[in-house]
Amino acid sequence: MKNILVTGGCGFIGTGFIRLLLLDRDFGGRIINVDNLTYAGNPANLRDLEKRYPERYIFLKADICDTDAMARIFNNYKIDAVCHFAAESHVDRSIVAPDAFINTNIIGTFNLLEAARRNSNRLVLFHHVSTDEVYGSLGPDGFFTEQTAYKPNSPYSASKAASDHLLRAYSETYSLPVTISNCSNNYGPYQFPEKLIPLMILNALEDKPLPVYGQGDNIRDWLYVEDHCRAVWQIMLKGTRGETYNIGGRCELANIDTVNMLCDLLDEMQPRSDQSSRRNLIRFVKDRPGHDLRYAIDCSKLENELGWSPVESFETGLRKTIQWYLDNPRWVKRVKSGEYLKWVEEQYNK
Ligand code: NAD
Ligand code: TYD
Repeated sequence: MKNILVTGGCGFIGTGFIRLLLLDRDFGGRIINVDNLTYAGNPANLRDLEKRYPERYIFLKADICDTDAMARIFNNYKIDAVCHFAAESHVDRSIVAPDAFINTNIIGTFNLLEAARRNSNRLVLFHHVSTDEVYGSLGPDGFFTEQTAYKPNSPYSASKAASDHLLRAYSETYSLPVTISNCSNNYGPYQFPEKLIPLMILNALEDKPLPVYGQGDNIRDWLYVEDHCRAVWQIMLKGTRGETYNIGGRCELANIDTVNMLCDLLDEMQPRSDQSSRRNLIRFVKDRPGHDLRYAIDCSKLENELGWSPVESFETGLRKTIQWYLDNPRWVKRVKSGEYLKWVEEQYNK
């Protein structure tokens, strides 16, 4: 894999993946990062690498729904592998405004697959970074395996399920070399503060209310973002073409326990001036419609076949994450303000 097209590389997980490949891994090739910089994309996440590796890291502002642009990129940059992260990724937004999810996650993925198919003589792999939410919701027992039937409940998960199916169809029909990974909830540096963990960290640091949906008894299976990125890279290198791999942290927690843990760690790492507990900021609010009760991943296929296992525990990962948000107030300020959007326009829309 000499020229890897990474889509959505300016988002949370894509940033982690590009940083991993260029900084930590034995990867000598070139990364072409295609991102159209929605509210969730932040090119500043990779600005240092743009300067350090001008030959090996290229950023292109483009929409994956733009057929001509994708065809040009495949041709001009001799793409031989794709790692597809670009997506609308937030469930609550998909409930309020599903349109963008259908466009980017389904039409955009279709568009990329078509560009890949037309260049399939050179292509060694098209990897799709997907979610465990395609499997729907679990009751109190059991785990999602690669054999679990798809049963998505939100417009977000339905759009990701559709794109997974398209990959499968392109593999079966056109023999496109594909792999798919379905991962549980991620947390870590660079996550946009609309998702549970960064939202709670930043609200708590500003003494704002911590909105917990329903009774906080919904369960998520958490994985530190770098562990997810290492798994994706292992699958790209060694995964069997045409197969799916589940990725998860074996780290199930009810939301209220996650939020309590965050409050306690924040109290320890950055105590409030009056030493009071941040747990008193928690507010139980109206539940999300169609709120999936429980996600839990069986990742034994990935562990047994590819030898992957997570490095971080939930506590070490949360400590690193909190420290990153404490150390990066400028990133937080920029991401939370219209100033950031203005800056992006100036940089890339000239
Ligand atoms: P994110 O929202 O932080 O980033 C998405 C990126 O895609 C942004 O940089 C955005 O600008 C870009 N993008 C959006 N629409 C685009 C378009 N039409 N053309 C080009 N670029 C576009 O998302 P994330 O949390 O980093 O998730 C990345 C991928 O991983 C997604 O496919 C998501 O479904 C999947 N995933 C996420 C999680 C999680 O917990 N965050 C878990 C499992 C799987
Ligand atoms: P989220 O980070 O949006 O990820 P997902 O919906 O993809 O799992 O939410 C994680 C869990 O936290 C989910 O059960 C919804 C809940 N949640 C809250 O209780 N309050 C919030 O403000 C948010 C954003 C999420």
